[in-house]
Amino acid sequence: MTDPAIDAPHIDAEALRERALTTLTTARTRTTLLTSCVEDPDLTAQHSPLMSPLVWDLAHIGNQEELWLLRAVAGRDAMRPEIDGLYDAFEHPRSERPSLPLLPPAEARAYAAEVRGRVMDLLESADFHGTRLTQAGFAFGMIAQHEQQHDETMLITHQLRKGPQALTAPDPEPVPLFTGPAEVLVPGGPFTMGTSTEPWALDNERPAHRREVASFHIDTTPVTNGAYQAFIEDGGYDNERWWTAEGWAHVRKHSLYAPLFWRRDGKQWLRRRFGVTEVVPPDEPVVHVCWYEADAYARWAGRRLPTEAEWEKAARHDPATGRSTRYPWGDADPAPEHANLGQRHLRPAPAGSYPAGESPLGVRQLIGDVWEWTASDFLPYPGFQAFPYKEYSEVFFGPEYKVLRGGSFAVDQVACRGTFRNWDYPIRRQIFSGFRTARSAGDV
Ligand code: AVJ
Ligand code: FE
Repeated sequence: MTDPAIDAPHIDAEALRERALTTLTTARTRTTLLTSCVEDPDLTAQHSPLMSPLVWDLAHIGNQEELWLLRAVAGRDAMRPEIDGLYDAFEHPRSERPSLPLLPPAEARAYAAEVRGRVMDLLESADFHGTRLTQAGFAFGMIAQHEQQHDETMLITHQLRKGPQALTAPDPEPVPLFTGPAEVLVPGGPFTMGTSTEPWALDNERPAHRREVASFHIDTTPVTNGAYQAFIEDGGYDNERWWTAEGWAHVRKHSLYAPLFWRRDGKQWLRRRFGVTEVVPPDEPVVHVCWYEADAYARWAGRRLPTEAEWEKAARHDPATGRSTRYPWGDADPAPEHANLGQRHLRPAPAGSYPAGESPLGVRQLIGDVWEWTASDFLPYPGFQAFPYKEYSEVFFGPEYKVLRGGSFAVDQVACRGTFRNWDYPIRRQIFSGFRTARSAGDV
């Protein structure tokens, strides 16, 4: 007998098989594009000490899939035990990876394809209940999310890469200038944070728990380039009063003066985006700012970053029912009209886009466009249990990392939901990071 608590007879195995197949295939299509749009020397080169060579990501994707689906789930032997160490993210920091004897591009492709072929065979007869790893296809979902997370990482590498444009995508639909209210009031009271029911939610999103959140106001849209430029023109980077002590030390030491990839050209600002230089569009959410910059901007604006709990309450709490939904728009899976996800566009959409994706209180673009820095450190929820491995979340918990929420244009929907938590160091800005601001109700 399987444990009734984890046995889920109502789960339709065919639907799960289909979902596993679709999400894995979508991820591989993206991985293939990101690793075939440049020649081999650009796959093996290190474009930034912050990033792995693209060919490392490719074989690491295959290796994690082999470890979790072929070995942990199906009990198979290692296909190439000698390469495990090379692709263990904890054995070698990113800066060292180019000097490792990595599989060359053709071999890395062949290895990832061989693993995938065997996984496709496994999926034909996969059992979707029994163990926590297989229940509701969790391991397949975890691996599809893992590949998509690396697809976002690889897109960051492409953005850091010097040289001509290799990737293109259509721009988001133009929208009329957003003229709605600048902020909305989220009434105080408890809400349900995290999840115990979303089948493919990762360990750090669990378990669901009640959180008390006092009334606060939050920006209707992410902070735009135009608004951020006003902070720059007002001397924001030269005025210590807006910065935390560490933030001030950081901007001084590294002479920061604008978001990463920006350059002043007379009266206007230019930016480099995937190999093309263009005028910074004022209505688009600002991207490539670090936590210190987001925090300083908020203080300059007389506001603050939202806490992680405030962000999630704004994104999930439905005041009409008192329930927390999966997404701001409800429980339906993301569709193109809801949010800018999945590298469909290689930029954020203008502020005020995606009215169909707004929350019940009218907050827009919480999902997609740019990852949003929150005020909060990356900490476990009450009752957290590492699953299936401590190195996904647990080893990162603590005050060194700040939480980002909501996903960017570069992340696929399988790895983005109202409960999804991302984290990074407060100095990081090569990621697709922006922010929105908040204030406590009663503060002016
Ligand atoms: C959740 C984005 C912080 O890229 O470091 C990929 C995701 N973990 N492989 C990262 C991850 C293991 C992780 N982030
Ligand atoms: Fe990884």
